[in-house]
Amino acid sequence: MDKITVPVLTGMKQKEKIAMLTAYDFPTAKIVDNAGIHTILVGDSVGPVMLGYPNTMPVTVDEMIYHTKAVVKAVKSAFVIIDMPFMSYQESIEEAKRNAGRMIKESGAEAVKLEGGSNMKEVIRAIVDIDIPVVGHIGLTPQSIHRMGGHKVQGKGDTAARLLEDARAVEEAGAFMIVLEGIPRGLGKEITDMLSIPTIGIGAGPDCDGQVLVVNDLLGMAGDLRPKFVKTYINLQKEIDGAVRVFIEEVKTGVFPDDAHSYH
Ligand code: KIV
Repeated sequence: MDKITVPVLTGMKQKEKIAMLTAYDFPTAKIVDNAGIHTILVGDSVGPVMLGYPNTMPVTVDEMIYHTKAVVKAVKSAFVIIDMPFMSYQESIEEAKRNAGRMIKESGAEAVKLEGGSNMKEVIRAIVDIDIPVVGHIGLTPQSIHRMGGHKVQGKGDTAARLLEDARAVEEAGAFMIVLEGIPRGLGKEITDMLSIPTIGIGAGPDCDGQVLVVNDLLGMAGDLRPKFVKTYINLQKEIDGAVRVFIEEVKTGVFPDDAHSYH
């Protein structure tokens, strides 16, 4: 598969759906890249998914770089996006540019993603102006869970107008792609039809230009809490649990290692 770039992704709008997954480590990135995924997001979901944090808020720039470096080493064709963690871009435009630059330079990722709409217009523009491609992210933005009162669907009823405005602002600021998270499917379609940049949905319905899932959700490795939008394609948690139990039993009973697994 040819290397996926910004022009390839923007050219896919209205032609071919874009498939995006998160990955946070070398072996997973290698598997999803080899399978043909178009783009890998090293999300700040690394906090709750891989590091045991209660949410994405404590994730640091250093942690994002550490995980993204491993992912980049594994990837041959997918386009790699690094998430800007909470408080790495909100404080000032200078700080946002410095962190975005450092994250691209040290991790090897090809674009940054940041959360926010009209309120982040100047930040997005400033990062785009230093030639770092930016992916926007609006709707249910996990870095705003305290304001939203939890992981709640956004853009229902009257608040849809604000999200349409946010989507327009992100595009006008120069983002080349936008993630729409946790919004009604009708609004996902409306934003997708309105924008000329690709929209990537997660809980935003089937009409977006592409879809993203957290890879651990897709693989059934994320515990029992499963939001409505998550489709689990395999129950790896169960498979791993079964394999570990058999290993323990075989060690206890002396079945493993047998002669075939011994040196002579
Ligand atoms: O951090 C993340 O994994 C994300 C996706 C859910 C879009 O932002």
